[in-house]
Amino acid sequence: MSSPFPRVLAFGLCVLWIFAEFVFAKHATGITRHYKFDIKLQNVTRLCQTKSIVTVNGQFPGPRIIAREGDTVLVNVVNHVQYNVTLHWHGVRQLRSGWADGPAYITQCPIQTGQAYVYNFTITGQRGTLFWHAHISWLRVTVYGPIIILPKRHVPYPFPQPYKEVPIIFGEWWKTDTETLISQALQTGGAPNVSDAFTINGLPGPLYKSCSVKDTFKLKVKPGKTYLLRLINAALNDELFFSIANHTLTVVEADAVYVKPFKTTTVLITPGQTTNVLLHTKHHHFPNTTFLMAARSYATGPGAFDNTTTAAILQYQHRHLLSSSTTSATKLLLKPKLPFFNNTNFATIFSKKIRSLANSKFPINIPKRIDRRFFFTVGLGLTPCSKNQNCQGPNNTKLTATINNVSFVQPNTALLQAHFFNQSKGVYTTDFPANPLVKFNYTGTPPSNIMATSGTKVVVLPFNTRVELVMQDTSIIGAESHPLHLHGFNFFVVGQGFGNFDPNKDPAKFNLVDPAERNTVGVPSGGWVAIRFRADNPGVWFMHCHLEVHTSWGLKMAWVVMDGKRPNQKLPPPPSDLPKC
Ligand code: C2O
Repeated sequence: MSSPFPRVLAFGLCVLWIFAEFVFAKHATGITRHYKFDIKLQNVTRLCQTKSIVTVNGQFPGPRIIAREGDTVLVNVVNHVQYNVTLHWHGVRQLRSGWADGPAYITQCPIQTGQAYVYNFTITGQRGTLFWHAHISWLRVTVYGPIIILPKRHVPYPFPQPYKEVPIIFGEWWKTDTETLISQALQTGGAPNVSDAFTINGLPGPLYKSCSVKDTFKLKVKPGKTYLLRLINAALNDELFFSIANHTLTVVEADAVYVKPFKTTTVLITPGQTTNVLLHTKHHHFPNTTFLMAARSYATGPGAFDNTTTAAILQYQHRHLLSSSTTSATKLLLKPKLPFFNNTNFATIFSKKIRSLANSKFPINIPKRIDRRFFFTVGLGLTPCSKNQNCQGPNNTKLTATINNVSFVQPNTALLQAHFFNQSKGVYTTDFPANPLVKFNYTGTPPSNIMATSGTKVVVLPFNTRVELVMQDTSIIGAESHPLHLHGFNFFVVGQGFGNFDPNKDPAKFNLVDPAERNTVGVPSGGWVAIRFRADNPGVWFMHCHLEVHTSWGLKMAWVVMDGKRPNQKLPPPPSDLPKC
């Protein structure tokens, strides 16, 4: 063929083919979304007092991250405040992107004042609601915002398409400076003060002093429509009950995993958990009725808790502008009935209702056989007070919190760097106990010597290890529900119960058919929970109680997951802008 024409044609076809491939690949892997997060101070007034808080871009709550499943998210974080900062993308699996996970001194050194870091991660195999928050000290008290993951284009929800979607993010508000509060508490060994209010989308609502009435979130709805409420508990120290007066909710997703839909009047949501619910509005207008949406604490522990109630307003929109002249005097205010503060019975029934879809479209990938079994006690404890100090814990001790009686000591360099560059010596040890060193009746009368040990200890797992972990609450100081959060993985909640876990009897009752798949689970107060996961994500993964005060006291540890053999089973080297300690 001497004529150039066929060659040109062939070239053209080739370009077309490559272009088509490119378009296809782009469609399959999603797009890249860029965000700029400036960490800066902002004056905010709540409960009649103005204070300067740490925010992202001056917003409180912070901006939403919206992405589709398969998209890559780049967040350029610039720190303009006097504190060290890191951000965590809570619940994002971070497959081979552990450098972007965010917990300070675990996967990275903090971003120092005037420095920047680009978090770069791809959202794979997840859709629903998650959230981002600061992951250093107590800065997440005001530094948090929603992550909304939409299904891939043209892929519907497995439930009716909602008319509107609304994030409902719960937080906690302190009048005092929380960085001072926690650092003083850690010095004295006592428990820090509880919060002054809970908030819904940053607003405490009308049930606090009169000056907070204007600080109320209002959700205006139309009758006969379906709304998707994306519930997020970003509070520091309180699990919450949430309910809307005279309305029923349908739970459809938890921790960015679809669940078998079920109806409930109240949702229980622990710090670190997210729950999508459908709200079907009534078929008639209720121009003279205000329905409150309210949240308050589910509290089981021995310490004080914030017993206030936050509320937002659900308001049916007026059909005619004329009716908006209705005077407030004629309005009926309906409040929801929330379970009592320590209603563990409700908590148990509710958490057992959360089940994976486990169908052909959304199958579960639960490990059936197990390579390694772990039994971790979680709970409170005491450590001795140094001689010349006066401590505020019981009998002049310091309060602490432990896993297998080890209170985790935060290193001063990042574990992931130490692991990646084979420099663990002097940073961490690999002897985290797989079982309690001292066995006792965990939920009975505590032993007389309850002094905790401490250290920076990790568990090392070969790539793809199938793990079963039983977490057992202890009654030391007092039994308490602990929302345990695992970074880097979703796990399956295969069983739970009260009293001490029985390794001979309880596994027979495990649910391996449709267990909840999530990233945060409440260890029942005075009970245990069993989870399973496959260690298929190389890196260093933090696991901790999402009650921030317990994390501060040491209820945390880390899993080191080794690289696999294949190139796509290895953790890539750190990005060049990874902050230095
Ligand atoms: Cu939402 Cu390690 O936390």
